[in-house]
Amino acid sequence: MCGIIGIMSDKGPAAPRLLEGLTRLAYRGYDSAGVATLAGGALHRRRAEGKIAALAEKLAADSPPGTRGIGHTRWATHGGPTEINAHPHATDKVAVVHNGIIENHAALRVEMEAAGHVFTTQTDTEVIVHLVTENLSRGMDPRAAAFAALDRLEGAYAVVFLFADEGAPMIGGRCGTPLAVGWGEGEVFLASDSYALAPLTSRVTFLEDGDRVVVTAQEAQIVDCAGSTVERPVRTSTISAAQIGKGDHKHFMHKEIHEQPAVLGELINGLVFEPAVLEALAATPRLTMAACGTAAYACRVGAYWLESLARLPCAVDIASEFRYRTPPLPEKGAALFVSQSGETLDTLEALRYARSQGQTIISILNTIESTMERESDYVLRTHAGPEIGVASTKATAAQLTVLAGLALALAGDRPDEAAALRHLPALMVEVLERETEIAGLARVLAGFTHMLYIGRGPLYPLACEGSLKMKEISYIHAEAYAGGEFKHGPIALIDEDFPTVALAPSTDPLFDKMRSNMEELAARGGKILLLSDADGVAAMGKTATWSFAVPEVHPFTAPILYLLPLQLLAYHAALAKGTDADQPRNLAKSVTVE
Ligand code: F6R
Repeated sequence: MCGIIGIMSDKGPAAPRLLEGLTRLAYRGYDSAGVATLAGGALHRRRAEGKIAALAEKLAADSPPGTRGIGHTRWATHGGPTEINAHPHATDKVAVVHNGIIENHAALRVEMEAAGHVFTTQTDTEVIVHLVTENLSRGMDPRAAAFAALDRLEGAYAVVFLFADEGAPMIGGRCGTPLAVGWGEGEVFLASDSYALAPLTSRVTFLEDGDRVVVTAQEAQIVDCAGSTVERPVRTSTISAAQIGKGDHKHFMHKEIHEQPAVLGELINGLVFEPAVLEALAATPRLTMAACGTAAYACRVGAYWLESLARLPCAVDIASEFRYRTPPLPEKGAALFVSQSGETLDTLEALRYARSQGQTIISILNTIESTMERESDYVLRTHAGPEIGVASTKATAAQLTVLAGLALALAGDRPDEAAALRHLPALMVEVLERETEIAGLARVLAGFTHMLYIGRGPLYPLACEGSLKMKEISYIHAEAYAGGEFKHGPIALIDEDFPTVALAPSTDPLFDKMRSNMEELAARGGKILLLSDADGVAAMGKTATWSFAVPEVHPFTAPILYLLPLQLLAYHAALAKGTDADQPRNLAKSVTVE
């Protein structure tokens, strides 16, 4: 998983446009980046280890010539994040950028080395460039050489080839990871997504799996997996520059946290479900749910709602385990998958397993035109808009909202819960207005190396989400436990250097249980940051070391409201620790590898 871009144009210099596209693709990976351009019948490459800024510096000092080029931002899979391993990989005849994993690269490498090719990187991708070069040296034209090389690849890829030949087309191909064509005026673009294409064009075609595309500055010909020329729909992308800019915010994550009341307001107003979706859910003996990371925690919160309100039995699993567990699924059952990107490979493969078992596939998705969308029977949209910060925030709130709406739609007459959902955006605004208080608490937490998060009921998976957010952007070790569970072992960790964030609204039927759990921690010298409402804070008295009074909220919507202080705690802890909240180390936003 990486971001790729290609520009086939005779207009302005390619390098600055490639760089801008890569900046927009950086959420897909940011451990190294590079570009290759074509000028004077030769390829010109610039690559840099580290974030896009390092490449930008190189280009500012020495921009490669030419109006055509390809670019790549990397999340390392094979070979460390060094300049040598950065894409594009190239010979003197062809350069390639690749997103995905070539599973048979070792065998192909042996074959290419036997044919005299010298490898210089530890990547799986380099084999592609040698295959194409070999084909060219055997007299194939660029199109045939690229197509024959793609025929040999096993695994997942989106690739773009740039040839050291002014008369050659640019060639792209996709198998398992996304690639889109952008239609300009007298120029054509390729990119991993429509965000990268947004400043170049709004007219976009998403390739299907197995498609290849032959691109000149004037046109693009799409060829399907059977070798036939095909027409794919051209869509008008609605992504605007403002949506993919940071505005006045220091980070995308901060902007996206603050967008939540508006996103949820719109979403809740338009929340209607196709009757067929509700019928499929009403008919299934058990609902299978699978997702990864934050989206999996959203599923777990949703399962509490679906089971308690709609009495729908749910089986939730993380997608990477689910698919290999090969669980028996109910006859005529339904399966629900949740994903911001719609491209997470573990979730996609879980979806494919469920489909192979005859399940009706329903997906809750944010990104438009994703692979999961194409492979689902029904899609419920979160309408959160582009989420660029690597840590999911507004998409999570929107996923929870859709799940809450679904539980209500299935449960029937629930006026109190429905009113609580409608009231939620106003309460969210109140939390955001008190960000300074939360920032102060986050600065205190940032002084610790470890911490615990606890909650009960749907606030238990939410505690897991809070701890995930904290560890992924501030690098503080954070564990999460159900309020009643940590005394069965983990309580041994607790001392004055191991604080606990406790999620305990006083309106929750389990508040008194949580109160006992907090007493147990305090009795062992544990420091507690209590997230509750004014009544809860008053009831806990001096047991809590610190507290933040969240507005009083109906227990049904508490998991969505309490998400906000958790996000802000993590964000401000990251600021205090000086980490990069938008691009934390070792991560990328969409994980399209296993
Ligand atoms: C954490 C985070 C990840 C994603 C996970 C699934 O903040 O963003 O845990 O939730 O990688 O991604 P999607 O939702 O795109 O399938």
